[in-house]
Formats: sequence, structure tokens, C-alpha cells
Amino acid sequence: MYSFVFRHFLSKLDPEIAHSLAFVLIRIFGLPILSRITRRATNGKSRIRASIMGLDFESRLGLAAGFDKKAKGLNGLWALGFGHVEVGTITALPQEGNPKPRLFRLIEDRALINRMGFNNPGAAKTAKRLEKFRKRNRKLVVGVNIGKSRIVPIEQAIDDYLESTRLLSPFADYLVVNVSSPNTPGLRGLQEASSLRPLLSAISKAANDVPVLVKIAPELDKSEIEAVSKIVVDLDLAGVVATNTTISRAGLASSPEQIHRAGEGGLSGFPLQTRSLEVLKILRGALGANRCIISVGGIETPADVVSRISSGADLVQGYTAFIYRGPLWAREINRGVGSNLEIDRA
Ligand SMILES: Cc1cc2nc3c(=O)[nH]c(=O)nc-3n(C[C@H](O)[C@H](O)[C@H](O)COP(=O)(O)O)c2cc1C
Repeated sequence: MYSFVFRHFLSKLDPEIAHSLAFVLIRIFGLPILSRITRRATNGKSRIRASIMGLDFESRLGLAAGFDKKAKGLNGLWALGFGHVEVGTITALPQEGNPKPRLFRLIEDRALINRMGFNNPGAAKTAKRLEKFRKRNRKLVVGVNIGKSRIVPIEQAIDDYLESTRLLSPFADYLVVNVSSPNTPGLRGLQEASSLRPLLSAISKAANDVPVLVKIAPELDKSEIEAVSKIVVDLDLAGVVATNTTISRAGLASSPEQIHRAGEGGLSGFPLQTRSLEVLKILRGALGANRCIISVGGIETPADVVSRISSGADLVQGYTAFIYRGPLWAREINRGVGSNLEIDRA
């Protein structure tokens, strides 16, 4: 059904318009009575549940950062079966993001290219929305992903991240420090150990016991992943989210014209799958057993989720598969992992 609607209707719309339409539906699913009925139908069996970082997750599957940048669809997303939603990226200052068009589909690759540029309402407004949501729903775990405001020079990044931490940590179940989006100039340079250590140290002190994770790019090589892991362990942070989108365009099935038409930005979805799994395995080796890893990048099926969990992930996230597989995607994962497949943590 959804694949028919996607092929004949949604895929013909501008991707951002399709996103807005989907959001209208998600907010309808979030209405009080409907959300509870829907949630019952999207639940999985107990095996998909988990207790991690001191938080209870109804499902190990969460919605990755970038989908709900305004914290407006949380109840509906919970109803659709996600165990957590990572809101954001949120910046201290509200910002419009890059000029449109800035989101493109590569349908043959089950992929997206985006250069959204952290369009978001800013930390103060988001904090108010999260405070309100918390009074309504205690079951959905809400992570908040924070980034650098575009107009703030990279040398002043720490203060800018600290402002977001101060405003948002009281309402976040966990915080993710995003230093890996390709669409904010200079941001990925913050992954270098000499910049990352003081940044994460300052944020973790300001976060007041809220678990802090760092989100990394798929381009980091083994020694860079190990350097980030060392910082996470040294500072006693909660863990790592891996990975963000890639700037690589290698191995795509889409035509060179389509790829060229999309232009610059981060590539997500199926083409990211292999690298994201590799990064997960390196990370688990480097971090040891006690840190949380949220694996993200190209996850589509219950089998993909099982493969990530058996390779060391505590939680998984997806974004692009939700677009291609539709509103029942989390239900498909919850049920598939919960009843048909054994998770055998290696
Ligand atoms: C349109 C779009 C916007 C995104 N925005 C953000 C963002 O603001 N912050 C962030 O950390 N990641 C962002 N991401 C990356 C996703 O959170 C995720 O790491 C990436 O898409 C890989 O997962 P996937 O293959 O399941 O989509 C975005 C992805 C997409 C497709």
C-alpha cells in the first residue's frame, strides 16, 4: 500500500513538501486517544525493549536526528512505534538553514542527499516545547542533538554549544553533540582530538548528569575513531552515535546526472550501510563493553537491526528507511525483531 502511494504520489512531490504532509499525518496520530490505540498496534515483543544509560526504551529502534527538527511530532512518532526520537539538530540561535531546494531523493539507491543546514527554531523555543511534551508522555525517550549556530565562528563553538546544553539538558533524556554534519562549514573539524576534548569536557560538566554522546562522521578512519573513543572513555561520557551522512558518492546506482543535480550535501540510506556497520565494529572494540553505541546509517529491515545489535550496538536509529518504507516501518522492525529473530549479543 505505502509503496504504491510512494511511487505514484509522494515521490512526485518536492521532498520537503512530502515531509510537511507526512508531518500533518504524524501529528494526527499523536492526538491523545488515537496515539494510545496506534501505539498498541505498533508494539513489539519484549526482546526489542531495553534498559540503557539508565533509561527504559520501549523499542531499541529510534528515529534519527533531522526528522523532527522542531520537536513537534513526538507523540505521533511514539505512536508509530519508535522507542526514542532524537530531536534536532538544535542550535543556540534559531536559523533558517540553506536555501531550497536542499533535499533530494536517489530512488534507485534508496538514498537521500540533504544540505538542510540545521534549520531549527533555536534552543530556547525547543526547550519550551520539550517541557510541554514531558508533561504529556513519559514513555518516549527524547534525545536532543545539538550543533553549532552557523553565524558563530568556530573558535567560539564551545560557548555556543554550552548555551544549548544549558537550555536543553533539563528536558533531554540524553544529549548528542553533533560534530559531524557536512552542511555547516568547519563543523567536522571539531572531531579532531585537540578540539573535541575541550568541547566534550565542557558540555559534560554543564549537562548535569544527563548522558552525553558524540555523533561522528562515517569518514573517520580507524585511528580517528579510536581517538574519539579514548576521549569518550577518559571523560566518562555515555557513548557514541555512529554515523552521520557521508559526503562520498561512491558506488551509487543512480545516474551521474541525478547525482549531479542533487549537488553537495550528506548522503544517507542504503549506500551508507556497509560503512556504518564497519564503524560500529571498530567502535565497540575501542570503547569496551560499557559505553552505549547508537548505530545509524542504512538500517532498513529487522535483519539489519539484529546484525547491528549482534555487532555491538545497544540501540539503532534510522531516517531514510522511514521515508522509503513508510509509517509502519517501526512496527515492521518491532515485530520482526521481537518475534522472528534471536538477538545473540556476540
Ligand atoms: C534530511 C536529513 C536531515 C538530517 N539532519 C540531521 C541533523 O540535523 N543532525 C544530525 O545529527 N543528523 C542529521 N541527519 C542524519 C541522520 O540523523 C542519520 O545519521 C543519517 O541519515 C543516516 O541514517 P539513515 O541512513 O537511516 O538515514 C539528517 C539526515 C537526513 C536524511
